[in-house]
Amino acid sequence: MRVAVVVGTRPEIIKMSPIIRELGDRGLNFDVVHTGQHYDHEVSDIFFEELNLHSPDTYLGIGSGSQGEQTGKALIGLEKTFKKLQSKIVLVQGDTNTVLAGALAAAKMGLKVGHVEAGLRSYDLRMPEEHNRRLADHCSHFLFAPTENSADILKDEDVWGDIHVTGNTVIDACIQNMAIAEDKALIDLPSDYVLVTAHRAENVDDREVLKQFIEVFENIPRPKVYPIHPRAEKMFKQTRLYDTLKNIEGIHLIKPQGYLEFLMLMKNARYILTDSGGIQEEATAPNIKKKVFVLRESTERPESVEAGFAEVVGTDSGDILKAIDEFEERGWKPGECPYGDGRAAERIVDIISD
Ligand code: UD1
Ligand code: UDP
Repeated sequence: MRVAVVVGTRPEIIKMSPIIRELGDRGLNFDVVHTGQHYDHEVSDIFFEELNLHSPDTYLGIGSGSQGEQTGKALIGLEKTFKKLQSKIVLVQGDTNTVLAGALAAAKMGLKVGHVEAGLRSYDLRMPEEHNRRLADHCSHFLFAPTENSADILKDEDVWGDIHVTGNTVIDACIQNMAIAEDKALIDLPSDYVLVTAHRAENVDDREVLKQFIEVFENIPRPKVYPIHPRAEKMFKQTRLYDTLKNIEGIHLIKPQGYLEFLMLMKNARYILTDSGGIQEEATAPNIKKKVFVLRESTERPESVEAGFAEVVGTDSGDILKAIDEFEERGWKPGECPYGDGRAAERIVDIISD
């Protein structure tokens, strides 16, 4: 068995890290293949360094581009790579263009595809992520569903691969890394701050949505810590809203943070405003447990909502501020983590090496 672990972006590196460690600890044959979809140090290399991860054996350098161009470049590069490495099993994680390219290249070569985090659906077809996850699920041999709910979705769609409920590896990552994070000296933080992230294309590529977000930040009477994703920074600048954002009272606009720093940022926040997928899950981790306002019209993580952590508030500033006010007035009692016990990677490696 020779396994290719494909990564391309920040969340894939973080969520594959427990699997990479597990494969290494068991002395199995594997290669880490990085498409280079994310290439800036703070959204890529920093995670290999901080998490002491096996560095990429192959780096394709596909970079940024239109949806088709980026996916196409990754497809071509990955096919050549799997051939050269003589990979037998290809693991992809999540819903990025790298995932679709990896799953498709491997399936066309007759290799076994394992989709980590299978069965999530937002039912929002504006999102490239929704196309990617659906297509990847339907050409995978192993479907690693994080919850029973995602397994049921896959059964209803009649996928041909085998479905395994494993939990989400992001909980493994939170548990494995929090102790290290707590030992690390952090940036100075204001007290009782709100943590903010936003980067999804359907949000930050729309000037009207950016204006709504600015209105929200202006009306939150607390410090706001915002590690800004490269796509969001580019769009705030392109729409000439960056200076307004930067000058909002109480805003701490900082570069994207390493994982250890970000874990501490989540743990110590009063609450979180985000359109991120991974953060909706991490907020439920037993060592984080934070309220998350989801700045989107839908979520493919209904488990976080049902467990009482996430609230989908859309992108209208009035609606978002109303939900925050209610939370500040009424307080909140967190539920239980719906994404497993932190041993998802162990189960996944058991299954592929069986
Ligand atoms: C991608 C994923 C998204 C995921 C996110 C994680 C797709 C379709 N989208 O979105 O699902 O949530 O990664 O963060 O795969 N850029 C840089 N430096 C970098 C990388 C990107 O400056 O290292 C800028 C470029 O201007 C680029 C833009 O960000 O055009 C978008 O990058 P891209 O990888 O295409 O998509 P993300 O928005 O990062
Ligand atoms: N994250 C990080 N530093 C940051 C912001 C996020 O390490 O400054 C981590 C976060 O903890 C989570 C992942 O990045 O594990 C989420 O990535 P992102 O929001 O970019 O993508 P998504 O999950 O929406 O696909």
